[in-house]
Amino acid sequence: MKQPAPESGSEPIAAAAHRPATSRNNVVIEVERVSKTFETPRQGKVVALEDITIDVSYGEFVTVVGPSGCGKSTLLRMIAGLTPLSAGKILYQGEPVRGLNTKVGYVPQESKLFPWLTLEENVGFGLDPRRYSRKEREDRTHNFIKLAGLEGFEKHYPSQLSGGMAKRASIIRALVYEPAVILMDEPFGPLDAQTRMILQDELLKIWEQKRQTIVFVTHDLVEAVALADRVAIVTHRPGRIKDILKVPMDRPRNIFEIHRQKGFDEAYGRLWNIFRHELKIRLDQGQSLDSQTLSR
Ligand SMILES: Nc1ncnc2c1ncn2[C@@H]1O[C@H](COP(=O)(O)OP(=O)(O)OP(=O)(O)O)[C@@H](O)[C@H]1O
Ligand SMILES: [Mg+2]
Repeated sequence: MKQPAPESGSEPIAAAAHRPATSRNNVVIEVERVSKTFETPRQGKVVALEDITIDVSYGEFVTVVGPSGCGKSTLLRMIAGLTPLSAGKILYQGEPVRGLNTKVGYVPQESKLFPWLTLEENVGFGLDPRRYSRKEREDRTHNFIKLAGLEGFEKHYPSQLSGGMAKRASIIRALVYEPAVILMDEPFGPLDAQTRMILQDELLKIWEQKRQTIVFVTHDLVEAVALADRVAIVTHRPGRIKDILKVPMDRPRNIFEIHRQKGFDEAYGRLWNIFRHELKIRLDQGQSLDSQTLSR
């Protein structure tokens, strides 16, 4: 795929359309030397993140991996303006994030549909009636339901959907109003391996069409490589950026045969080498490993 770069001249149309004329360069999110310390009444200060710096470009797919508790969700919440920073700054489209960043779509780690709304009502929930006519809202909702393979279930309530279908719906709910940037926090975490692959495939297909910017948190190293243009590796808490790895694999990618795709083994090997070192440090420190990390 074309990695969107200013000099490439082949930037995807959808990504270009999201970029405001005032933007200085190709960067949409700038995280500069950001730290976060939580003050808790019982445990005192918890340093979650330390000195994080990363830029994300328009149309880029960035995955973030790191051990449990290293601050991945906190980082997404800060970009979304839901958690204030302790130090550093975050710029979104060149402007500091102050308060809720309504320009980004956000799929939280425990994303749930509203149980009292049907699937189509859930998906269309965020479409502002002042901005979109009723017809536009219906068309957009229908298009995304179709893209996610949920046609025929529009009138179903969440309790009538499988876990994978509900997860799909919660993801397209964030995609439907086509924000320039979508933040996804382990969206496929609790799903079985097969459903997970199907959803990864669907997400990539939607992304190939829309080319929004995606920042995607995951524990899964295969998922991190399979989806991303770049993988950011965060250390054990306090989380720091250990490395940012480019994934030079072609697009479109075949999720179901990702191991056979040229470049996968090399990218995965490099990621695992960095991650293994991180695990070794934790083992040397006598820390227990979470089951998700061990299962990889
Ligand atoms: N609101 C809060 N108040 C106090 N501490 C918090 C708060 N939110 C997060 N933390 C602490 O900050 C650290 C990072 O939490 P965070 O949820 O960002 O980790 P994570 O990398 O997303 O973990 P996981 O992979 O398990 O989801 C943890 O030690 C957590 O206990
Ligand atoms: Mg988390």
